[in-house]
Amino acid sequence: MRTVPVSLGSRSYAIKIAPGLLEQLGCECLRLKLGQRCAIVTDTNVGKRYAKAAFNSLATAGFAPSLIIVQPGEAAKTLKTVQTCYDQLAVHRLERKSFLVALGGGVIGDLAGFVAATYLRGIPFVQVPTTLLAQVDSSVGGKVGVNLKAGKNLVGAFYQPRLVLCDLDTLKTLPEREYHAGLAEVIKYGIICDARLFARLERDEPRLLKRDPEILAAMVARCCEIKAEVVGRDETEGGLRAILNFGHTIGHAIEAVSGYGKYLHGEAIAIGQVVAAKVSRQAVGLPEAEVQRIERLFQSAGLPTRIKLNSVQRRKLFATMCMDKKVSDGEVRFVLAKEIGSVTRGHRVPAELIQQALG
Ligand SMILES: NC(=O)c1ccc[n+]([C@@H]2O[C@H](COP(=O)([O-])OP(=O)(O)OC[C@H]3O[C@@H](n4cnc5c(N)ncnc54)[C@H](O)[C@@H]3O)[C@@H](O)[C@H]2O)c1
Ligand SMILES: [Zn+2]
Repeated sequence: MRTVPVSLGSRSYAIKIAPGLLEQLGCECLRLKLGQRCAIVTDTNVGKRYAKAAFNSLATAGFAPSLIIVQPGEAAKTLKTVQTCYDQLAVHRLERKSFLVALGGGVIGDLAGFVAATYLRGIPFVQVPTTLLAQVDSSVGGKVGVNLKAGKNLVGAFYQPRLVLCDLDTLKTLPEREYHAGLAEVIKYGIICDARLFARLERDEPRLLKRDPEILAAMVARCCEIKAEVVGRDETEGGLRAILNFGHTIGHAIEAVSGYGKYLHGEAIAIGQVVAAKVSRQAVGLPEAEVQRIERLFQSAGLPTRIKLNSVQRRKLFATMCMDKKVSDGEVRFVLAKEIGSVTRGHRVPAELIQQALG
């Protein structure tokens, strides 16, 4: 088993990565010295495969678990679902020391994390991420929340889990498209922080696409290390944490303009990162050969790298970018790559450069 520490003073926790961890859930929770009552929050897709194992493991360890099952997908990330969860927690009489287990992808992690952050002014929670995206990104760092009609993730909190258990076996049942989308975040870590990881991804891509357990273990651990390091230095997105948004300003706008649901998040940010790489070539001198390596790696990971937009859509894309949550003082600031493995942040980019990069 690989363990990655997240160092945040009294809010520190461990990320544990290995196959078969779901069976250990109960024992792992015992070490945290939590209350006896707990609730597993999951969705129907994940629940039918893994809820029983999670439930049994907790029960065998002496806990009294209950199960809360919500609909799968982004549509469940609402205050309405939050309300349903609160009501069920109250019925099961969860109290201050009780805890939640978020068993699922990023939707479940964000939703259950938000419920944990707010129920009784906060109860402990454990993340058991079951998508690649959730294992390398959303389960680490403590951002939790739900969507409003006006936009994604507009209500939320910074609330750290007590433990993250990445059971690599759960990735075996992940649909191909979801798996590829997760790879877009993995590649992002290479671009922003780690040229060796990027080169390893280029070399090991065929094995990675086959979900080779050894490669997966090393890769998930390395991504978690990078995210833990960044979050440890900037928990609440005051500065450095912004580098994790490489390709995201454009990616989020693509998601919005094309109608949520057309592109998965990972697909949209694959395009966003390629556009950001092209902008980086013009603005901060990222070598052309590296732009090409970046585009090639996304392509061979089965991800889109370009988007065709008409003039109306383009205008909408720019308007959406200006409304991104990360805009400060009305100006869009970009994270750009000087070379693979090294980015700088806070760049103002002229609209023409983005127009050109969009092709
Ligand atoms: N908090 C953060 O820092 C952060 C970071 C990135 C993304 N997010 C959020 O994460 C969400 C996206 O997460 P996601 O991509 O994991 O999507 P998701 O949670 O919707 O999961 C994708 C689909 O895969 C299914 N699934 C999950 N695990 C499975 C498994 N092991 N086998 C079979 N099917 C499985 C789910 O039921 C769902 O249908 C978005 O809401 C996004 O805003 C949060
Ligand atoms: Zn992302």
